[in-house]
Amino acid sequence: MNDPRIIVALDFNSAADALSLTNKLNPRLCRLKVGKELFTAAGPQLVEKLMLQGFDIFLDLKFHDIPNTVANACKAASSLGAWMVNVHALGGRKMLMAARDAIPQGSSTKLIAVTLLTSMDQDDLADIGLQGQPEQIVERLARLTDDCALDGVVCSALEAAHLRQLLGDNFCLVTPGIRPSGGQADDQKRITTPLQAIRNGSSYLVIGRLITQANEPLLMCQQLNAEITSLTI
Ligand code: C5P
Repeated sequence: MNDPRIIVALDFNSAADALSLTNKLNPRLCRLKVGKELFTAAGPQLVEKLMLQGFDIFLDLKFHDIPNTVANACKAASSLGAWMVNVHALGGRKMLMAARDAIPQGSSTKLIAVTLLTSMDQDDLADIGLQGQPEQIVERLARLTDDCALDGVVCSALEAAHLRQLLGDNFCLVTPGIRPSGGQADDQKRITTPLQAIRNGSSYLVIGRLITQANEPLLMCQQLNAEITSLTI
């Protein structure tokens, strides 16, 4: 079965910009992530267009609200045909379970959770009353996510090895912060190479600028796939 491990982050503010990139990509080599910016600008119509091009869509809208509202949003994402959708684990057990229950049995939509935003450091956590090291909080929220029978979490590839060991082979780990060896980090701090992320147990790699700003996005996608394929076949 064709199961591309690369998810290209479509961090654009218009459908035209997104489509001009996806026209150059191949759905056999990658999936796509539509986040808040693009979804707010271009809506479900764009998601439908991208699915018609053959791409699986990760709807990265990070729902966080009362359980009923999040459940209905997840239901809408699943009806739209999203391959993956996410919520904030900080919404708590009731919200996570409501989200899980809202996705119809037999639907192929995967539901994952964001543990902690990687933009938050210990001071930010203290400000909102969260005690402990970020890694401990990530672990607790990942366990809660697993306990509520969600499919996985978004995490740094540096955390992936530990979470893979803790939560087993079937738990889905989606990891951003991917850079080629020797490449520039941009604004990302906790980065790994694609190969290292896969070695650490990552299920899917979220890759943005490395592909979206490449001179030849398809070629870059092929090269990145070649780098990780040795470990995934
Ligand atoms: O361009 P780059 O590869 O850094 O893009 C990474 C993508 O992953 C962006 O869409 C970014 O918002 C997302 N992301 C991240 N770090 C997280 C969660 C999501 O970089 N912790």
